[in-house]
Amino acid sequence: MKPVIALTKGRLEKQFLNFFETLDYETEPLVNKGRKLQVETEQFSFFFAKGPDVTTYVENGIADLGVVGGDILLEHEPDVFNLFPLPFGKCRMALATKAGYEWPDHKKRIASTFTNITNEYYREKGESVDIIKLEGSVELAPILGLADGIVDIVETGTTLKENGLVVQDEFLSFSARLIANRSNLKIKRNQLVPVIESFKKGANQA
Ligand code: PRP
Repeated sequence: MKPVIALTKGRLEKQFLNFFETLDYETEPLVNKGRKLQVETEQFSFFFAKGPDVTTYVENGIADLGVVGGDILLEHEPDVFNLFPLPFGKCRMALATKAGYEWPDHKKRIASTFTNITNEYYREKGESVDIIKLEGSVELAPILGLADGIVDIVETGTTLKENGLVVQDEFLSFSARLIANRSNLKIKRNQLVPVIESFKKGANQA
């Protein structure tokens, strides 16, 4: 059986493909995948899932390897081998508010998809806040009055800018990472180690 690799849908997809094209593998089925969620190439079985689900599939051994943002790994702490950084998916974690916003005197409300990271950020500051969990488009929360600020990833800064928000603090940097299932890596060592090595070489050359 070919190695199974879980890829993160969305923003990392295109960037992964650009990276993968620098390695010595067949890429054409990935380039022309359309809306398919599973893609077979000569060397690999790929499937696409949301970042947190990539970690679940790898943790449970359905995928041998996974490509996922470091932000997702910090937030969810899955029990996987966190192998090494990949040269794409670079982003920062930021606290942002509406431009010119004055923090309230009462307890702040902070919206985020990353509730654990947000909690840890304010714990370190020694400040107690109300954290509101959202699943996406968190930039809406301060605009619509659900929260005073947001904690979210910033890549180009375009989403914040186009929605009238500004960064108040940037506190973590991430990139995409290669992860592996712990027991599959032992059982399928001969098959997986050369793949991991080729990804590593590609990452070092980028
Ligand atoms: C992420 C993040 C921001 C945006 C930042 O959202 O939540 O909204 O990207 O990128 P930028 O700084 O380059 O504009 P994503 O597109 O992954 O979707 P989401 O809103 O569903 O989380």
